[in-house]
Amino acid sequence: MGNVFVLDHPLIQHKLTYIRDKNTGTKEFRELVDEVSMLMAFEITRNLPLQEATTETPVTEATTQVLAGKKIGLIPILRAGLGMVDGMLNLLPAAKVGHVGLYRDPETLTPHEYYIKLPSDISERELIVLDPMLATGGSANDAIHSLKKRGAGNIRLMCLVAAPEGVEVIKQDHPDVDIYLGAMDDKLDEKGYIVPGLGDAGDRLFGTK
Ligand code: PRP
Ligand code: URA
Repeated sequence: MGNVFVLDHPLIQHKLTYIRDKNTGTKEFRELVDEVSMLMAFEITRNLPLQEATTETPVTEATTQVLAGKKIGLIPILRAGLGMVDGMLNLLPAAKVGHVGLYRDPETLTPHEYYIKLPSDISERELIVLDPMLATGGSANDAIHSLKKRGAGNIRLMCLVAAPEGVEVIKQDHPDVDIYLGAMDDKLDEKGYIVPGLGDAGDRLFGTK
């Protein structure tokens, strides 16, 4: 079964508070999502494998360490996942970025895929799917299915805020996928919004509505 990690670093939790605040405007919301994504990138990469290298320092030859293992691919779910990309790329500048376009029908809450464009070598990459919100889990679930259908084998999911219902869906359908969260919230409301949540992440990031 996939593991669920709530990244409880104080800076992440502090910034999340302001992301949740309904009085936070678009500019500040965007900046905060960017900052939290970078902090989450730091935590999520904690266990990346290292390999030994030899480096000439100005003083002597030293045994050092460099990153080993699979290359990384970032997969934002459009639109709101876009807000997390730059923060991640600050720490993972060589990562390739694929996009999955999904929107959630406001009546049925069913996700509809309208776009997908991925790096050609996704089967060789460690993929991190990015979406600020994991609500019913339908969108992330479909995105992960889509990636697997195209050969992806190594996938993690990173969200700012999740509802227990969405986490359960991913755990059931994708037990191989570890989930990294800024916070696990209480529940969904009757419209499928996360409670207490932060509202509509896409609208708040892009100033739409
Ligand atoms: C939001 C959010 C997730 C999805 C989560 O996207 O960014 O992708 O809803 O809900 P779910 O877990 O119930 O599927 P939305 O469909 O509003 O599209 P947007 O990002 O374009 O605003
Ligand atoms: N999508 C959002 O943007 N917010 C929610 O609370 C649920 C789905």
